[in-house]
Amino acid sequence: MTRIFSGIKPTGHLTLGNYLGALRQWVTVDQHRADALFCVVDLHALTVDHDPARVRRLSRQAATLFLAAGLDPALCTLFVQSHVDEHTRLSYVLECTANDGEMRRMIQYKEKSAKERAAGGSVRLSLLTYPVLMAADILAYGADEVPVGDDQAQHVELTRDLAVRFNQRYGHTFTVPKAVLPSVAARVMDFQDPTSKMGKSHGETSGIVYLLDEPDVVRRKVMRAVTDSGSEVVHDREARPGVANLLEILAACTRTAGDGDVGPAELATRYSSYGALKKDTADAVVETLRPIRERHAELCADPGYVDEVLRAGAERARGLARPTVDAAYEAIGLLPAR
Ligand code: TYM
Repeated sequence: MTRIFSGIKPTGHLTLGNYLGALRQWVTVDQHRADALFCVVDLHALTVDHDPARVRRLSRQAATLFLAAGLDPALCTLFVQSHVDEHTRLSYVLECTANDGEMRRMIQYKEKSAKERAAGGSVRLSLLTYPVLMAADILAYGADEVPVGDDQAQHVELTRDLAVRFNQRYGHTFTVPKAVLPSVAARVMDFQDPTSKMGKSHGETSGIVYLLDEPDVVRRKVMRAVTDSGSEVVHDREARPGVANLLEILAACTRTAGDGDVGPAELATRYSSYGALKKDTADAVVETLRPIRERHAELCADPGYVDEVLRAGAERARGLARPTVDAAYEAIGLLPAR
């Protein structure tokens, strides 16, 4: 059976981008067709300046939102990365397989480290090694597929390179995984700055829709989306990034994954004004998020249930990862513990 692994890091409240780019695919498709593991990758949240209490709170919230969005622990495995030691055990061995040049070439490292330095801060070493830990997350489970948004494709490519290199040097140990991107909304853009990705850790929040935003807040953010001075509704990411973003979000929120699905270019032909497009997009987003918000509120009343799901998930994950990580330790030349 195909094995799937994916994760979200608790650096901020989950956004519409996280949902359309990753979580929704996990819920509607992945958990039904594969042995799927979904992880709150909390260690990754420590790579930039962080508040410990906030990371803890956001980790619980992310796990609760996984369930609220429809992940079913009877179908898939949900857990928190730091509950399974195998991730960090394997990460070290992969650090001995990677080289510093390929780490420094990672786009996210370049962007985030430049931002930290510009703000006068220092860059944590873990920000540089982050993609290796991500590779360990994936390789520890022998994942065949990694469903992610477009921004993570480069990290999955690196994971493939490390797996191939390790296998060539030390003998076949790892499955070489591939990234699977959603067909629409693989890169949801910020409503206020449609040339940059909608990201949960951004400081300026007026262009970001969070999964737990109230309906009137969602409407306001969508209705105030920056478009451009034209008025013709066309799907053109380069020339009309704001309008293209709205069309893609509308297409993603109204799709049923059936034959009748309408893509962003075709949707564009149905609109003659930005106002109508924004209103329909706002309605579609509100309706997409409504059941998630409602279920989240129910789950918050039952924290013991969430804890139990995470406990059982970590136990299963440990059992799956340990043999692979032990095999990697042995292959690279470490004396097995007796
Ligand atoms: P993270 O936490 O930034 O994002 C989680 C998932 O959401 C997707 N995503 C988006 N998709 C479309 N439009 C957007 N604006 C948008 N913003 C985020 C991301 O592509 C991702 O799929 N390094 C990863 C977390 C991670 C991971 C892993 C993922 C750690 N280990 C192993 C897969 C497998 C990250 O920072 O994602």
